[in-house]
Amino acid sequence: MTAPKKLFIKTYGCQMNVYDSERMAEALGGQGYVETATPDDADMILLNTCHIREKAAEKVYSELGRFRGLKAERPDLKIGVAGCVAQAEGAEIMRRQPLVDLVVGPQSYHRLPELEAKARSGEKALDTDFPEEDKFEHLKSRPKSKRGPTAFLTVQEGCDKFCAFCVVPYTRGAEVSRPVGRILDEARELVERGVREITLLGQNVNGYHGTGPDGADWSLARLIWALDGIDGLERIRFTTSHPNDMSDDLIEAHGTCAKLMPYLHLPVQSGSDRILKRMNRKHTAEGYLRLIERIRGARPDILMSGDFIVGFPEETEEDFQATLDIVEAVNYGYAYSFKYSTRPGTPAAERSQVDPDVASERLQRLQALITRQQRAVQDTMVGRELDVLIEKPGRKPGQMVGKTGYLHAVHIADCTAAQGETVRARITESGTNSLFGELCRD
Ligand code: 5AD
Ligand code: SF4
Repeated sequence: MTAPKKLFIKTYGCQMNVYDSERMAEALGGQGYVETATPDDADMILLNTCHIREKAAEKVYSELGRFRGLKAERPDLKIGVAGCVAQAEGAEIMRRQPLVDLVVGPQSYHRLPELEAKARSGEKALDTDFPEEDKFEHLKSRPKSKRGPTAFLTVQEGCDKFCAFCVVPYTRGAEVSRPVGRILDEARELVERGVREITLLGQNVNGYHGTGPDGADWSLARLIWALDGIDGLERIRFTTSHPNDMSDDLIEAHGTCAKLMPYLHLPVQSGSDRILKRMNRKHTAEGYLRLIERIRGARPDILMSGDFIVGFPEETEEDFQATLDIVEAVNYGYAYSFKYSTRPGTPAAERSQVDPDVASERLQRLQALITRQQRAVQDTMVGRELDVLIEKPGRKPGQMVGKTGYLHAVHIADCTAAQGETVRARITESGTNSLFGELCRD
């Protein structure tokens, strides 16, 4: 028997990329690859790149440059670039960096075995097509090994919203939803393998409209209700959503579906209507706040999470103040804030840019507010009794770590429960980034 070949995957960016990296490892598993934690002994290195912020392509070039020594020592080493940078600039990367043997865009991962064989034979292999037929071909065929208690499941890819700052509609293409039957099959299989919590993924997940077994178009809420019927599945989450696609049935599900966790990531990006309009968001700050009121009407304890961009072209101090105001008004449990970064090819790239020092200073102010707010929300958990899904052992002996429905990590001392079990815990303390608790023994 030949020794297995070693595969090193470095993943950048969002949860969709984490999910895709798992699928790539599985696809190459069929070619005799096993994953390794370091590039040093790898036979194949794959960079699963992200294009959403920062100087993504430059980062890829500098990372690739670091592999020059390894490739000189071992000419058989194959180096590949996957993900959104591959999609957007793959051919250019291959021209500019001769170390690269393989380029594969997010819609073509199911072709990795062929591409790998081509690269092995000494040819350059590139595939960045948008297939018309079955966009989810690359998500098929998962091996049946045991898994941890939480998993991602892609239900939708691409985005039609065209926010003026965002590359996703260009790199991931138009919105496509996976048929309901396949999602339910995959969910059942995950549960058989030990998964208790599934996070449904999509770039615009609440825009989901997949074909149901009845041939009708199913909404995300309807899909969630079907998943709710799977025995052994305890928790359902979904991310990322657009405010304009928060349909009535989805809001209602937050109030009535016990498996749907009280957590919602609903980015607004800015609190200024002037900037929202320039961002092509097609909603106002007031409309967003009213929407949250309705969601909280259905599920009063829901924990809101969001994304913000500061320093978007033409943002004034007054616009930025409106962003601070909307953060105050919502009271987020989690929020992620980014300095605007120019993405070539997007409409906002052509506009007059904010001074980078001004943008950095605004980012600091926003992050200080968010940090205070996150901590205050986390502190309100102290004294409560909450269900915690145990994920792994903690650092201290006897300690286990799990998550509440609100997605806070809890360290539980003297915890007899195993990974994958849900326990009732009393929260005793709120730390910098996590909670501490003890088992409720009634
Ligand atoms: N610059 C800064 N942040 C961006 N995001 C998307 N595109 C950009 C950009 N060009 C942020 C948005 C989005 C999150 C995933 O990344 O806030 O919600
Ligand atoms: Fe990008 Fe999200 Fe806007 Fe789609 S909705 S364009 S993924 S920021």
